[in-house]
Amino acid sequence: MTAIDKKSLIEKRVNEGLRGQWYPVAKSVEIKTSRPYGTRLLGEKIVLWRDGSGKIRCLEDFCPHRGAPLSYGEVHGGNIACRYHGVVVNGDGVVEQVPAMPDCALEGRKALTSYEVTERNDAVFVYVPSLDKPDAPELVMPKELVSDSWTGFLCTSVWETNYRYALDNLADPMHGCYLHAESFTLAYGSKQDLMKLDKTEHGFRVERVGQVGENFDWSEFEVHAGDMFCFLDIPYPPAAGPGSFMRIVGFVQPVDEHTTKVFFWRLREVEGIARESWRFLYRAQLEENHWNVLEQDRVMLEGMPDDARRREMLYQHDLGVSRLRQMLTRAAKGQIEAELKAAEVAAE
Ligand code: FES
Ligand SMILES: [Fe+2]
Repeated sequence: MTAIDKKSLIEKRVNEGLRGQWYPVAKSVEIKTSRPYGTRLLGEKIVLWRDGSGKIRCLEDFCPHRGAPLSYGEVHGGNIACRYHGVVVNGDGVVEQVPAMPDCALEGRKALTSYEVTERNDAVFVYVPSLDKPDAPELVMPKELVSDSWTGFLCTSVWETNYRYALDNLADPMHGCYLHAESFTLAYGSKQDLMKLDKTEHGFRVERVGQVGENFDWSEFEVHAGDMFCFLDIPYPPAAGPGSFMRIVGFVQPVDEHTTKVFFWRLREVEGIARESWRFLYRAQLEENHWNVLEQDRVMLEGMPDDARRREMLYQHDLGVSRLRQMLTRAAKGQIEAELKAAEVAAE
């Protein structure tokens, strides 16, 4: 293997998404006991459903008979039945039944890869194993989502762009006062600044030097053994009701190299009556503003070519973007090297 081949494998891994990670793939309410839910994760087709006890199961979306998508099928007695010829598979990926053929030898065979799944804060997370982390590490959630003093809403959206652009966008506070200049509070503050980047206990923080608390002025990334997320604050004017800023906590699902699904929790630290009034206000009025802002991000990112990286000219404000790339590349390098080594050992 030449250095160039290795470099392109690393780049491919970064573009597809790191393995050895938990990723959100759906809202909890989207996974039902009545019908399967198909999606893709790191380019691989997966299917999810709830078994008889309400537990979510996840398999590769491939019927062991001839490869039809199981997600086109039906849930029967907690298992999934293929639409094409009725083969039934359980949540462990074992063939339970071949209804068209008595005593078929397929029955009892473990035929499919199953994935570990967990539900947190209205979202469903799936673990994609890596060679060095076949078993899922702990899924560390943002502190706001494990605390009772915060309340909020999960919103998701599918963007036709590589997940890296969604992350880059979050690591780039300076776009707030330009791209979102027409929106609600995001027009505030100065349009010129310098950025700084600081290491934090679990990741990094990128922030504007000249202003804090006026606009989308900073963002922070937390990186754990099994997951990564970002958070940032959007200041609210008094008209937005009680509580101070709105905090956004974001995860991304790398669907495939050209598609990502973003998961944003919009949260506020408010208690008592203020809590209910904010929740009401959010649904009645604020949610639409936030959607409009998110749409501005989506349209911009979808308009950028997949290989913009090859021609871009970064400047001082892109510290966060550069740091993210470094982190992803380093992690991908570790994974690829481990895989190459294992392949070498296997070939000996
Ligand atoms: S392809 Fe699924 S039962 Fe035949
Ligand atoms: Fe934005």
